[in-house]
Amino acid sequence: MRLFIVSITIIFSIFIGNSQELKSPNGALIMRFSLEANGMPTYNLSYKSKPVIKSSRLGFLLKDDEKSLMNDFTISNTETSSFDETWEPVWGEQKEIRNHYNELAVTLTQNETERKVLVCFRLFNDGLGFRYEFPAQENLVYFVIKEEKTQFAMTGDHTAFWIPGDYDTQEYDYTESKLSEIRKRFDSALTGNASQKQFSKTGVQTALMMKTDDGLYINLHEAALIDYSCMHLNLDDKNFIFESHLTPDAIGDKGYMQAPCKTPWRTVIVSDDARDILASKITLNLNDPCVIEDTSWIKPVKYVGVWWEMITGRSSWAYTDDLPAVQLGKTDFSKVEPNGKHAANTAHVMEYIDFAAKHGFDGVLVEGWNEGWEDWFGKSKDYVFDFVTPYPDFDVEEIHEYAKSNGVKMIMHHETSGSIRNYERHIDKAYQFMKDNGYDAVKSGYVGNILPRGEHHYSQWIVNHYQYAIAKAADYQVMVNAHEAVRPTGICRTYPNLIGNESARGTEFQAFGGSKPNHVTLLPFTRLIGGPMDYTPGIFEMEISKLNPNNHSHVNSTIANQLALYVTMYSPLQMAADLPENYNRFLDAFQFIKDVAIDWDEGIYLEAEPGRYITVARKEKGANKWFIGNVNGVDARTSNIKLDFLEAGKKYKATIYADAKDAHYKTNPQAYTIKTKKVSSKSKLSQLSVPGGGYAVSIEEIK
Ligand code: NOJ
Ligand code: CA
Repeated sequence: MRLFIVSITIIFSIFIGNSQELKSPNGALIMRFSLEANGMPTYNLSYKSKPVIKSSRLGFLLKDDEKSLMNDFTISNTETSSFDETWEPVWGEQKEIRNHYNELAVTLTQNETERKVLVCFRLFNDGLGFRYEFPAQENLVYFVIKEEKTQFAMTGDHTAFWIPGDYDTQEYDYTESKLSEIRKRFDSALTGNASQKQFSKTGVQTALMMKTDDGLYINLHEAALIDYSCMHLNLDDKNFIFESHLTPDAIGDKGYMQAPCKTPWRTVIVSDDARDILASKITLNLNDPCVIEDTSWIKPVKYVGVWWEMITGRSSWAYTDDLPAVQLGKTDFSKVEPNGKHAANTAHVMEYIDFAAKHGFDGVLVEGWNEGWEDWFGKSKDYVFDFVTPYPDFDVEEIHEYAKSNGVKMIMHHETSGSIRNYERHIDKAYQFMKDNGYDAVKSGYVGNILPRGEHHYSQWIVNHYQYAIAKAADYQVMVNAHEAVRPTGICRTYPNLIGNESARGTEFQAFGGSKPNHVTLLPFTRLIGGPMDYTPGIFEMEISKLNPNNHSHVNSTIANQLALYVTMYSPLQMAADLPENYNRFLDAFQFIKDVAIDWDEGIYLEAEPGRYITVARKEKGANKWFIGNVNGVDARTSNIKLDFLEAGKKYKATIYADAKDAHYKTNPQAYTIKTKKVSSKSKLSQLSVPGGGYAVSIEEIK
């Protein structure tokens, strides 16, 4: 319910001269908006009387407009309101989400030009969101943003968990350092990623997680990135001031605007308890409610796939290795012999369908099913993928029938190869092809440099493309899981058919040289702030050379840690990514992946420290079953939790999948124990997690 309580305005908003104060509903956060003497707008933020953001500038540089929108403003209007509603997501970490904030909207008029900008602040109990709005007006209609100049002035040399500012990829390991050390650590933070374009040696991406020396946790990100460029942050490392840095387009412009219009929300989540950062729902709350009327076709998905065998190099996506002799539409593939390791063939896909059906999975993803992979690898980019032409050994109809008769859904794969216009040209036919052949979810991918040339993965133009693909998919009742797209900003509230994204370093990197063992203790504090990730957990064989003798990568995780990820990495889309043959070796551990829920009534973060550990308990939607996940960083640690979230007076059976005492992510990753015990709301659990380890628990009521 929208509630405007004008009469209590004075309680949370005090206007003094050119400055106005806004309080969060519980009073712990205070935001002060001020105009400097030269008419420059600024804001600051405090939490429990401690400064979080020092006085920070707001404004824009406009192209071909010297005056820009930086100063010479007067406050022409202010409005305050209060809002409190509870809404139900289609899928989510919890059944109900409370959206409760106080709002201050300041209209600024630039004296000389009479141009108007409205800055809207929403203060929640767990943080601040603010955005710029450009109302319809005579003197500001079409304009081009040269740079957004929003500042986030930090109070000191905080510890940050960061990845380099890059216009094209987020697939980095996180670096932990003081803000003052980012410059020094920047080049080594790039290791392992070849094709990035960084804008500065102190540029970082959001969501950026920080911790102050006196124990405040601060997270900077954005919400509702629609028709605008993705924001990175550039640090002035003498004064510890971050400033927005928007992703440019091919000619360096940062945003094409037409009033009335608005920017995404800039968000500052803050608490003295790290668990509150993980539990925050600010990003979702700042997005518009769901626009899809009938959402009955949107369903969480647990899936397996013809995938890890290609990622590890054991099998191939391409049908043939004869490069570059073939070209889409010009090659008669029925006359070409397959290379003997093309995994997406009918017989092999059926094995996966059998496995999925036997173990109760909803879907099977198949990559490498369609013509074009040879051309892509051969770099004749203009001819790649039409998304409807299967290789001759992939029988679409037979597979459809077989999957259907086994109660399994096929999951489509569209690798766009970054060729955006090519994908848009084919997208209607491609989605229709899916509907005709029993697919209701697609994994799309944007690998490689973007075509047209010079565009980046995160500019306004391509942000609009990702949005177009999601909205169009909704028209066809198709669920989307986009890889290499811009990192999410809570848009899944508005379009819940966006059930997953990658946009971070996923499990695939464990086969490309490995990821840091504490990576998964950071993703929920960073990438997941914007929405769920298709992280593709569940790897049981850590020596990749056992799958492909030429690949010496090592998965830096224990099996118990892999199980915990199904709980700690919240997502309505969860893959069991390893090969069936590896699951068959460890069926007792695999049982947890089969049992774990993917949609929830509630979640309780029990322990959390970025880069060190996360422990969360979640209650399955509509059932009296709980699942607990704990992931651990590089130091062994004993986790101590209370099960007081269980219903008092009831008895439960807990099955605990834990690291064996001598387990270790590097030297002994497959050593685990499985124990069952009776528990109640009075029980406590004390559990060792080894380096790169963790534990997973399923708890079921005994009736
Ligand atoms: C990169 C994606 O992250 C991966 O999951 C996919 O298999 C390949 N691109 C091929 O499309
Ligand atoms: Ca990827």
